[in-house]
Amino acid sequence: MKLVNFGSLNIDKVYRIPRFVRPGETILADGYQCFAGGKGLNQSIAAARAGVQVLHAGAVGLDGEMLLRTLADNGVDVSHILTSQTATGHAVIQVDSDGQNCIIVLGGANRELSQPYVDETLKFCDPGDIVLVQNETSLVPYIIQRAYEWGLKIAFNPSPIDEALFSYPLEYVNWLILNEVEGAQLTGLHRTEDTAVLQALQKKYPQAEFVLTVGERGVLYAGKEGCHAHPSCNVPVIDTTGAGDTFCGYFLACTLQSMEVEKCLELASKAAAIAISRPGASASIPKMDEVISFSPVYRTF
Ligand code: RIB
Repeated sequence: MKLVNFGSLNIDKVYRIPRFVRPGETILADGYQCFAGGKGLNQSIAAARAGVQVLHAGAVGLDGEMLLRTLADNGVDVSHILTSQTATGHAVIQVDSDGQNCIIVLGGANRELSQPYVDETLKFCDPGDIVLVQNETSLVPYIIQRAYEWGLKIAFNPSPIDEALFSYPLEYVNWLILNEVEGAQLTGLHRTEDTAVLQALQKKYPQAEFVLTVGERGVLYAGKEGCHAHPSCNVPVIDTTGAGDTFCGYFLACTLQSMEVEKCLELASKAAAIAISRPGASASIPKMDEVISFSPVYRTF
């Protein structure tokens, strides 16, 4: 069984700044690095480093060779990725001295997926595969609809949330993996009302399992395996970019390896914690052996 990720592929242009730039202001960056990124690419790499087979579907431009190489070096199947005449998607990322980030994404080639391409790629799925989507590519509702018609399991990371997302066929989704901000946006509740957010989501989409990351408060699960919580790890924060993607890829990889949900939450939380203690998004994602041997101090509230 494998993860089939219809996922975004971005060139991440990362600027280290003392604090986020304000309207009308020009500030000097302390440093600049260019990384392979995109929520899709980060999640594929996380799942591959967690030990599962990953087929990545998506599109880059002629300038996207570095992204294909990074995925392939991590054992991800890139043979279905399209090369478009449109430039590769990119992200401009500010990382401040606390390791927090602000991100602007230009979709570029990620927005070039066509219906025939989606249909053709789905033919390479087998029963038991999980189809993963985020909200940075084109045709997200179509991918969800067609994956459902093929009888496949679907995981959706609704990031970034936009108006169009509210009309997606989320009744076909098996796992919604989201953070507290996205949970609040989807339900209209406040981000700290974790239990109420989960209850509202369950009422709206009773078929789905929910994995809600709530920052330093950890992660909550609600679904057919009951309700579970796992605390966050106390680590030095260098760069939070891609922490949610690391969590998402690890959680699904552990699920594909038939681990109990509590184990999936534990390993995914540890992997995300290791990732935020290093710079970069995909570059910071640990392999499974490092995650297993990591003994963190957990936060208590
Ligand atoms: O989640 C982090 C990712 O968001 C970055 O890699 C960037 O490309 C944007 O897609």
